Amino acid sequence: PPYTGKICCIGAGYVGGPTMAMVALKTGLTVTVVDLNKQRIDAWNSDRLPIYEPGLEEVVKQTRGKNLFFSTDVEAAVRDAAIIFVSVNTPTKEYGFGKGRAADLTYWEGAARSISKATVPGSALFQGFKIVVEKSTVPVSTADAMTCVLQENCPAGVHFQVLSNPEFLAEGTAIADLTQPDRVLIGGSMSKEGIMAIEALASVYAHWVPRERIVKSNVWSAELSKLVANAFLAQRISSVNALSELCEATGADIDHVASAIGSDPGIGPKFLKCGPGFGGSCFQKDILNLVYLCQSAGLTDVAEYWLQVIRMNDHQKRRFGKLIVDTMFNTINDKKIAVLGFAFKADTGDTRESPAIDICGTMLNENAKVTVFDPEVTEDQVLQFRDLDYRRIFDTMCKPAFIFDGRNILDHDQLQSIGFRIQGLGKPKTLEIVSGS
Ligand code: NAI
Repeated sequence: PPYTGKICCIGAGYVGGPTMAMVALKTGLTVTVVDLNKQRIDAWNSDRLPIYEPGLEEVVKQTRGKNLFFSTDVEAAVRDAAIIFVSVNTPTKEYGFGKGRAADLTYWEGAARSISKATVPGSALFQGFKIVVEKSTVPVSTADAMTCVLQENCPAGVHFQVLSNPEFLAEGTAIADLTQPDRVLIGGSMSKEGIMAIEALASVYAHWVPRERIVKSNVWSAELSKLVANAFLAQRISSVNALSELCEATGADIDHVASAIGSDPGIGPKFLKCGPGFGGSCFQKDILNLVYLCQSAGLTDVAEYWLQVIRMNDHQKRRFGKLIVDTMFNTINDKKIAVLGFAFKADTGDTRESPAIDICGTMLNENAKVTVFDPEVTEDQVLQFRDLDYRRIFDTMCKPAFIFDGRNILDHDQLQSIGFRIQGLGKPKTLEIVSGS
């Protein structure tokens, strides 16, 4: 039967908040999002939401207080719901075994223990069991560990089905991605109860997602698919970034190269824009997690292959910082430098692992005076950078006046005609700046 009960989500972050707002909007089911962080919950209940996503505010306004609730009462929400999503953070471990690579599962285990504690006789069940849905990105076989923690800490007779339902939304386009997902992946046990649980969760998504896009698999494939999806996306960025350096060295233009190769359907046009390195909370941590899994399985060459994606990213971030110093006559000591944009990409206010942090760090180490501006906003406002009065800016600047366009969004010819020395990534080097020749 389709699921008609209440839904709870543990973790009110970038994933839990938007995802559950969409579930509430599309299904009409009662959804409660809980978090230990009171400040975050208060923000979700206020006029200033804790995260920025285009379209999110409208969805929250339509549902909050009607069938969407934000609360710190984890126990009550878990007790009343038979489907519980877990979307807590799973950062890279910073201590002990697997330090710097493995996923830190402290928060995830904390959530599992809260669920077992709140599962008391009389708490809501679906067909005799509670369905726990892993939304967080986790190592393969985490569902098995979660089942163990849950099953050994709950009242006799209560059963859990743990599903893996990784989230593929991208920050900045979360609402569009959730409204029309490319696919919804549900992994679970192939037992009778497992299949019932998968079907119950599928019935929730089927309120708005076409059935053919709801893909089912075993639990390990679902867990691994998320890590691999992020590893592939990051690999494309590292590939195009590696070639941007070759373009600069040879006089080729990375935008021309990307557009030429991207028209091959086997390659496709997306994720071919070079930049100052990928950022965000997921790509690096998920690849490191994949690397750790490979190492744990003794697959040294496979681990090395994926690790190179991160090494290339670190190289690109360092290289952009160095390009700035080199171009400005090998010293930026005491020079005033304005940084336009600090989030890890457009249309988000999220600065986690943003390459801007590394690049600003390089400039500060070189004693530059750095001023940062980020409107934290919509595409229009990011493109605003395109419409600044560059002639006026040029007039006020020390000469030669430099622009380093890490995203290649500005009109380089026009800026050059004003008198700027402009360097984009993957663009032929304006070497005369350095050599004066
Ligand atoms: P986040 O850090 O924004 O949110 C996680 C929330 O969980 C925090 O507010 C934290 O207070 C809460 N939390 C931690 N332990 C808890 C507990 N025991 N009980 C109640 N609340 C608890 O993290 P974000 O970005 O939402 O990511 C969550 C998961 O989703 C991660 O595994 C991430 O890899 C994955 N993911 C993230 C995407 C993104 O774009 N940010 C996209 C797809 C997946």
